[in-house]
Amino acid sequence: MHDFLTRLGIEPENSGAWTPQALPTSGRCVPSTDPATGEIIANVRMASVADYEACVAEAQRAFESWRMVPSPKRGDIVREMGNALREHKDDLGRLVTLEVGKIVQEGWGEVQESIDIADFAVGLSRQLYGLTMHSERPGHRMYEQWHPIGPIGCISAFNFPNAVWAWNAMLAAICGDTVIWKPSLKAPLTAIATHKICNEVLEKHGWGGVFTLIIGEDAEVGEAMINDRRLPLISATGSTRMGRHVGQAVAKRLGRSLLELGGNNAIIVEADADLKLALPGILFGAVGTAGQRCTTTRRVYMHTDISEQLTAQLVKAYGQVRIGNPLDEGTLMGPLIDEDAVTMYRSAIATIREQGGEVLCGGDRVHGPGSFVTPCLVKANRDMDVWRHETFAPILYLFEYEDHDEAIAQQNGVDQGLSSSLFTGGFRAAESFLSHAGSDCGIANVNIGTSGAEIGGAFGGEKDTGGGRESGSDSWRAYMRRQTCTLNWSKELPLAQGIQFDL
Ligand code: UN1
Repeated sequence: MHDFLTRLGIEPENSGAWTPQALPTSGRCVPSTDPATGEIIANVRMASVADYEACVAEAQRAFESWRMVPSPKRGDIVREMGNALREHKDDLGRLVTLEVGKIVQEGWGEVQESIDIADFAVGLSRQLYGLTMHSERPGHRMYEQWHPIGPIGCISAFNFPNAVWAWNAMLAAICGDTVIWKPSLKAPLTAIATHKICNEVLEKHGWGGVFTLIIGEDAEVGEAMINDRRLPLISATGSTRMGRHVGQAVAKRLGRSLLELGGNNAIIVEADADLKLALPGILFGAVGTAGQRCTTTRRVYMHTDISEQLTAQLVKAYGQVRIGNPLDEGTLMGPLIDEDAVTMYRSAIATIREQGGEVLCGGDRVHGPGSFVTPCLVKANRDMDVWRHETFAPILYLFEYEDHDEAIAQQNGVDQGLSSSLFTGGFRAAESFLSHAGSDCGIANVNIGTSGAEIGGAFGGEKDTGGGRESGSDSWRAYMRRQTCTLNWSKELPLAQGIQFDL
């Protein structure tokens, strides 16, 4: 065992259900595997539906009193959680890297996003503002206020096993909600360590039960959660296929869902773009996290004037990407999450070849232990359709274009709508990309790439990306219920629509 695992309280065998008292669980074990070596890091005994019921009971019980704590006081506790994450940033970042294979700089960067959202939530705890309206009736006051909504379910994916929960949980906590977390079975140890760090703070203040953790099968605890009327909001991050299922189940019971699903993000590079900016923007977007971010750059539309030059620069840069142990600080790309991901990568490469795409570099498995592949650049054409699908791997499709409007239409011409960017030297091109007729994505950037969104903005996208927004801006509203209040301080009761009763 690595030292940092011991410091984070990870045992060779861990319980998959965490309420204030860890519950005994009797389910089968799920191994957490290091994707860089294929070795088992530790096992997690999976939670049952009975454990899930116990978590919901805890979350409901805690909600009854947590919702009555003034929001700035809840913010004080979130501040402490942010500080606890700060203290453990180094170890937790390494665990993220060990468990999901992203390079350690990204592991630390992810924990930093959790710390940042905690800080953001602390400030927000004094700013859960509602509007006031001028009533049309004399002696009346109208305003709206925001109340906690209840225990909420948070389903997170393997690729951001720490930060995406924090985006949800820190906001939900200051909003007065309690959170039941169901993490990916591919990253249970990060969830356990993160939960322990935050729960220690909560328990110290007598608030155990505000956050609970349930690690179990989708078909059991996942289904129980999404169909559970006691959870008014389900926030889910993952594939569009998963989100469609979650969205339908939650809609059926008229619950709320916050969905952050697949992306198929493109960068457009204009003829007058500064290629010194475009090149690292594309490289980081396409190769970062081994192409396993929902914001990963999957397509590039290059103006024909610069396409040859940019392609050559990209091929050269791809050849220099250092692939290897993600815990080594010199590594630029780690492994894919598991062997299934390698299989999907290889099958996408085979389809690319069948459909007439030209593989310019990469496309192979790296021999030896671990789920390593080489990042792939493809000269693509519009008759292919493999690029319409999100393959969660480092495959970048290169297209050429001549007309700016046509490039925007191409960029928008996919089912997903998460992130997009344009590299340009021109004001008109930038404004047109950001206009109503421009990018149809939730995120639209100019002269920076598609990934690496800051926590301060609302994060999410349109179409098959699911429409949800989490993290910054006013995303907090998703975690609260809105109430419109009208108070009559006059001595009359003017009825709406001028109705008079002869009393
Ligand atoms: C994700 O891949 O689910 O914008 C989230 C980014 C990160 C978050 C990605 N801040 O790349």
